[in-house]
Amino acid sequence: MTKKIKWGILSTGHIANKFAKALAILPQAKLVAVASRNVSTTQKFAKEHNVPRAYATYEELVRDPEIDVVYIGTPHTFHLENSILCMRNGKSVLCEKALTINAEEAKKMVQVAHEENVFLMEAMIPRHVPLLKKAIQWIKDGRIGEVRMVKASRCARGVFPPGARQLNPNLGGGSLLDVGVYVISFASQIFGKAPTEVIGMSHIGDYGSDEQGVAILKYDNGEIADLSFALRTNAVDEAYILGTKGYIKVDEVFAVPTKASLFIDNNEVEILEEPIIGNALNYEAEEVMRCLNEGLKESPHMPLDESIQIMEVMDALRKPWGLTYSNDKQG
Ligand SMILES: NC(=O)c1ccc[n+]([C@@H]2O[C@H](COP(=O)([O-])OP(=O)(O)OC[C@H]3O[C@@H](n4cnc5c(N)ncnc54)[C@H](OP(=O)(O)O)[C@@H]3O)[C@@H](O)[C@H]2O)c1
Repeated sequence: MTKKIKWGILSTGHIANKFAKALAILPQAKLVAVASRNVSTTQKFAKEHNVPRAYATYEELVRDPEIDVVYIGTPHTFHLENSILCMRNGKSVLCEKALTINAEEAKKMVQVAHEENVFLMEAMIPRHVPLLKKAIQWIKDGRIGEVRMVKASRCARGVFPPGARQLNPNLGGGSLLDVGVYVISFASQIFGKAPTEVIGMSHIGDYGSDEQGVAILKYDNGEIADLSFALRTNAVDEAYILGTKGYIKVDEVFAVPTKASLFIDNNEVEILEEPIIGNALNYEAEEVMRCLNEGLKESPHMPLDESIQIMEVMDALRKPWGLTYSNDKQG
């Protein structure tokens, strides 16, 4: 019989609010506590989302004996510290993307998960969306032949005041960690291996963070991924998976994918259309609960070694850009 999973939320920002809404539609989930660095923020969040306990420090949250798993929605530079705090207190963790700011931090985080024998997963919504799983089945069924290229773009036009997390280099802001991680993770999922060559280019904006960038990844059998990511540039959010017989196009792939099309010889031969249930964060929460109920320590859909490998790709990309984050040195 599946056990009801008790959640804690660490932080009260934009995505933490969305996650609380996602849990609210899942009958097998119970949100029992939230923590903020600030007492009034945590109380406001608890009231809005009907959370029984509101803590004014993260340390109090992780000592709550009822909590099975903590969702971490802090800026990138705090993911390692916050996750370790949870795991050292016996809690499983769902940590927002990007898992950390660099591969060295990611390896440390995974090592602690192993030492504490707790579940850990990077929150990467597209991995768990049913429509995308069905579209990927087209590849497994050989419908597009051998996959040779991936083209994906995750660009959003945001207006960010100075200091906002998204472009704040001291909080691990910038397009690579914030949205580039989606397209790199997508290429990794499709090809199922690490690239052998990585090149890219970025523009460092007025706030000292990368506002937009491109990456070309090449794989051992000549496969290529052509990826773009941006935080201040309006663009279509879509992905193409290109094969020797045909290709797949997914619309709004990294936000709310609701349509995927299969093309053979440039003719659209099949369409998958499926509405997103909830705000899509519920899909990753469901995967965490499935894993916990099955006693798994990581998800087969977002394996920890792959999260580390994705961080390695991002490290390699930004090295020639001279792009560093505040805690790179300690990483
Ligand atoms: N999956 C998605 O669709 C999605 C979308 C957006 C963002 N994200 C990810 O979610 C994470 C957070 O993004 P967000 O947009 O929710 O950020 P946000 O609105 O700025 O919230 C971040 C929260 O982190 C906490 N925090 C702890 N130390 C902080 C510090 N020194 N400065 C600022 N905040 C601090 C704060 O909560 P307290 O004050 O309560 O402690 C704050 O509310 C990032 O990893 C981001 O990549 C994911």
